[in-house]
Amino acid sequence: MAHFYRDARLKGRDFLTISDFTREEIRLFLDAAHELKRELKAGIPHPVLKGKTLGMIFHKPSTRTRVSFEVGMYQLGGYPLFLSAQDLQLRRGETIGDTARTLSRYLDGIMIRTFAQEDVEELAHYATVPVINGLTDLVHPTQALADIMTVEEHKGRLAGLKLAFIGDGNNVAHSLLQVCAKVGMNMVIACPPGYEPDSQIFREAQAEAAETGARLEVTEDPVAAVEGADVVYTDVWASMGQEAESEERRKIFSRYQVNSELLRCAAPDVIVMHCLPAHRGEEITDEVIDGPHSVVFEEAENRLHMHKAIMALLI
Ligand code: CP
Ligand code: NVA
Repeated sequence: MAHFYRDARLKGRDFLTISDFTREEIRLFLDAAHELKRELKAGIPHPVLKGKTLGMIFHKPSTRTRVSFEVGMYQLGGYPLFLSAQDLQLRRGETIGDTARTLSRYLDGIMIRTFAQEDVEELAHYATVPVINGLTDLVHPTQALADIMTVEEHKGRLAGLKLAFIGDGNNVAHSLLQVCAKVGMNMVIACPPGYEPDSQIFREAQAEAAETGARLEVTEDPVAAVEGADVVYTDVWASMGQEAESEERRKIFSRYQVNSELLRCAAPDVIVMHCLPAHRGEEITDEVIDGPHSVVFEEAENRLHMHKAIMALLI
């Protein structure tokens, strides 16, 4: 057995965006995650982080990210601490820098979910232990890694496949763009005008794609986007922090629903993905999310295996 997850090359590194890593390093995360999944299913323990601790700071709600990191750390033999931002002195104005320097004296790693990407960067700047980004308004990088793991399980490859993302050019779309560019997957985002992905992220992903042969596109037409797609992906129309826009967005995005009719334009063996939580009846119908093409709960499960790979390799 190769034991990819024991590889020491990434020890001490932060995980702030997908762009922090090379194509080969992305491969290492994937190999480690597949291996940890196989071992878990075979009942083989892998306590490689025995005695280590991970602090998890949450400024936003979470079901999957929290539980998968927490259980994952336990399965690796370490100890996870859930730190609600509401209960930290951060809420009373302690700086991110002082928080990072203090927590680094107790912990072996910090995971954070927050609003501004700059706050994660600041935390990483002051922390002396690895910092992992568990979602910001800009990106959701651990999600994207778990997602390509799921695609690889189903399709046996990544390069040359077509992923159609239907909906908002949001944090999840940004990390998928970055990861598709790295691994040579083609990606089309179909979104209403004004809701395109961030232009800098798109430009940088294009530059990366030029090296791997990935084709990245943005269109307003969901039907054209889904044409021949191997993966159809969607996410909520209003992300955390955009609750006040929900009503307006429901109208603007109504044409961008993943339903049975839209799915008929995709490849016959298309898989349907959603990072979850889903707003059933909005961006995706019950029929599709509960239908034969949906892999959303395997996708959710793979967060556990990928997060374990990330922790085992960085900490
Ligand atoms: N997909 C995801 O990050 O889910 P949670 O918000 O439940 O963590
Ligand atoms: N785009 C969503 C993803 C949730 C996992 C949000 O930011 O709320």
